Amino acid sequence: MKGHEHHANAHSGHEMMHAPAATAQDDYRRAYDATQPDPGGRVVTVELEAREASWPLGDGRQFAAWAFNGQVPGPTLEARVGDVLEVRLTNRLPEPTTIHWHGLQLPAPMDGTDIVQRTVAPGETYTYRFRASDAGTFWYHSHTNETVQMERGLYGALVVRGDEGLVFDGEQVLVFDDLKLDARGWLARFGGFVQGHDGREGDVRLINGKVEPHLAIAAGQVERWRLVNASSARYVRFALGGASFRIVASDVGLLEAPREAREVLLAPGERVDLAIGPFAEGQALPIESLAYWRMTVKRRKTEPFGTLRVGPVRPSSAVIPDRLRSIAPLAAPDAAPSRTIRFGARFSLRHGLVFVVNGQRHYQDHPVRVGELQVWEIVNETNMDHPFHLHGFAFQVLSVNGKPRAWKSWEDVVNLPPRSRTRIAWIPDDRPGRWMYHCHILEHHASGMMGHFDVIR
Ligand code: C2O
Ligand code: CU
Repeated sequence: MKGHEHHANAHSGHEMMHAPAATAQDDYRRAYDATQPDPGGRVVTVELEAREASWPLGDGRQFAAWAFNGQVPGPTLEARVGDVLEVRLTNRLPEPTTIHWHGLQLPAPMDGTDIVQRTVAPGETYTYRFRASDAGTFWYHSHTNETVQMERGLYGALVVRGDEGLVFDGEQVLVFDDLKLDARGWLARFGGFVQGHDGREGDVRLINGKVEPHLAIAAGQVERWRLVNASSARYVRFALGGASFRIVASDVGLLEAPREAREVLLAPGERVDLAIGPFAEGQALPIESLAYWRMTVKRRKTEPFGTLRVGPVRPSSAVIPDRLRSIAPLAAPDAAPSRTIRFGARFSLRHGLVFVVNGQRHYQDHPVRVGELQVWEIVNETNMDHPFHLHGFAFQVLSVNGKPRAWKSWEDVVNLPPRSRTRIAWIPDDRPGRWMYHCHILEHHASGMMGHFDVIR
């Protein structure tokens, strides 16, 4: 604890990084800077058109998608740390839309939710402009009527490259999704109790918009696979037929060290980067999601998402260091929480089953102050899992049910197991405005499992 604290509300005992009172001129400069590339950076200009498209699933079927530039997923956007992305979104859908840049640390007005901008009406164009601040695997998706718009295909991957010091022989982005079609092959009806409770899951399992595709890798090579779970509700417990791989990154960039694994759980919204291989020529490995029961009405067994075929040998020059980066802990695993957030469910006469935060739908939470350490204890009072997502800021997971995590990472989604307490830490940097957190099961979010809060100076 510091000897002298000049802030009236210095209750956290944490050293304040609070800037001196900003002038209007400072604000103006900061807002301008956030739209300019770093020295040496570029402005990456992208046109995205959200429109109806008949999307071929690769198995002879097509479905009535809503898609960015007519493709599911939308184009993979790429930038380097320090670049500015300038994305012109034109809405050709029959209803309003917005784009949320999931995992990016951008100014509040660029967050793409309808609390920070007017939704983009049919026929309108809106330009997002922000700097890519961290290397990692991110994604973008509609943040308006998401239960429908994301199910119909309005999502895509966003890769930000930096000097990470790893060398791979190749790279693939794998965006996972599932689609619920009816017996005629049309989009199944939206709504109903099971969909409201479980979230919408379907039996058409997609990687990059195709049904159970075949992917290829050369024998002897090591590839970087960037996995994104874009499903509305499905938990992808990724495995490669029991083969081992290394997890090198999570939501917001590299881990401290690679983690050897034979499976990895991706809740909706989550990403991991894996080092895949080397394998022997001729192998065929199932890309699957292992059984995961999250107390849903419908139980999921182990299900295939695709197949990896290993082709002829090619030389490898892959280098994956034992140490990837260091991540300074923001707080001790048992740091006292500065607030508690309760994810719950209840029955209401008006709405039936509703998912809530602190007992309320669309909870209005207290503001947080720039520079003040946040230690949030997130209590899951329900018997189901919920993926907690914080917009705009990365956090560290301190502990789950009092148990510290065995590794350190930066996340923007953490899965809350049933009846659990998860403690996270983060520090709001100087990006004041309106932000939110929510369950990334889209039907739960829509039902009200979310909180709004302001970042204030
Ligand atoms: Cu990907 Cu509000 O979320
Ligand atoms: Cu939920």
